[in-house]
Amino acid sequence: MRQFQNILVTGGAGFIGSNFVRHVFSRPEFSGRVVVFDALTYAGNRHNLDDVAAAEGGRYEFVHADIRDAAAVGAAMEKFDVDCVVHFAAESHVDRSIREPAAFVETNVLGTLNLLQAARARGGAFKLFHHVSTDEVFGSLGPTGFFSETTPYAPHSPYSASKAGSDHLVRAFRDTYGLPVTITNCSNNYGPYQFPEKLVPLMVLNALEGKPLPVYGEGLNVRDWLHVEDHCAAIWTVMRRAAEGETYCVGGRCEMRNADVVARVCALVDALAPAPLPSGAPRSSLVVHVADRPGHDRRYAIDCSKLERDFGWKPAHDAESGFRETVLWYLSHAEWVDSVRTGAYREWIDRNYGDRR
Ligand code: NAD
Ligand code: TYD
Repeated sequence: MRQFQNILVTGGAGFIGSNFVRHVFSRPEFSGRVVVFDALTYAGNRHNLDDVAAAEGGRYEFVHADIRDAAAVGAAMEKFDVDCVVHFAAESHVDRSIREPAAFVETNVLGTLNLLQAARARGGAFKLFHHVSTDEVFGSLGPTGFFSETTPYAPHSPYSASKAGSDHLVRAFRDTYGLPVTITNCSNNYGPYQFPEKLVPLMVLNALEGKPLPVYGEGLNVRDWLHVEDHCAAIWTVMRRAAEGETYCVGGRCEMRNADVVARVCALVDALAPAPLPSGAPRSSLVVHVADRPGHDRRYAIDCSKLERDFGWKPAHDAESGFRETVLWYLSHAEWVDSVRTGAYREWIDRNYGDRR
């Protein structure tokens, strides 16, 4: 099994990255240091790691820098003697990519290239570049079938196209220069610290506040939902145990239509919020069907049997308890919610969505 001394976690102040840092420090087999490298875009929040900073002291470092800046990437790798990169940093929201695609190519493709170059420059001391990717690179499924490691790439959105580009670059660096790499392609995550532009936290917070719940189209699109902690456990397992060059698909075997996700969230907020809506109506009455997302992928579903077979991985959270805990987390972290909503995000969302939110 691989052991790492100095892990550079790009995007560690974001949703999955911050959960991953917490997961790694909880693992008894890890005694090294984590260096979070994050530009703190609208989606990044340094306070997502306050507990880690307090608990881990000298084993945790934070570098406020941008992966588009090749010199800053190279300097951090040298300074902290990095032997492993886990690459989460990305522009991650499909709707945003439809409006501002250039930023997705700059960060997701060119930023990844900078990291790969810097990893290569580390030479023999470098152990692993783990690339965190998405099932969206495979495109859209019909009513049956699953994505797996052998599914051809067919991305539709600027987001998924940029992630596909980064996946190809990672594999090219292995094939061309022998860089040790692994890749995971995961389905939709839910859990604590997710930025409230994504479906689940947006619906929780709007439902709590009695605001409209915008469901795109008929709400019949299907996503495969996985708790973020299960994703993080899968990444750590692959990093330690997978053969160089391998790809693993990660999913929850938990397909749900968007309308059903929103109904589940509404029922949980009704049950768990301190007060009902002033009208007394159930939160599901707040649903409004709005214009569909252009190029909206119909269905994602993952066959994760390779991960199950090779490592015995399986999710620890089921959807029932996972969604309940997640809703409770947002209801009990009002300060976090306020802090992310007062940032640049709020200005961007107001400019682009007006009264739809
Ligand atoms: P996020 O938007 O919550 O976090 C992204 C983080 O990257 C933020 O902290 C942000 O500040 C940072 N960042 C963005 N641009 C940067 C730049 N140029 N330089 C340095 N830092 C930068 O995203 P997330 O949901 O945590 O996703 C993390 C990764 O996981 C992404 O690569 C995404 O494609 C992938 N992924 C996400 C999901 C999901 O459901 N959220 C599923 C599968 C894969
Ligand atoms: P999202 O959380 O943006 O993740 P992704 O697009 O990466 O799957 O969206 C999940 C699903 O929910 C997707 O089918 C789009 C839909 N959706 C809505 O219906 N309304 C919303 O306000 C949002 C943000 C998403």
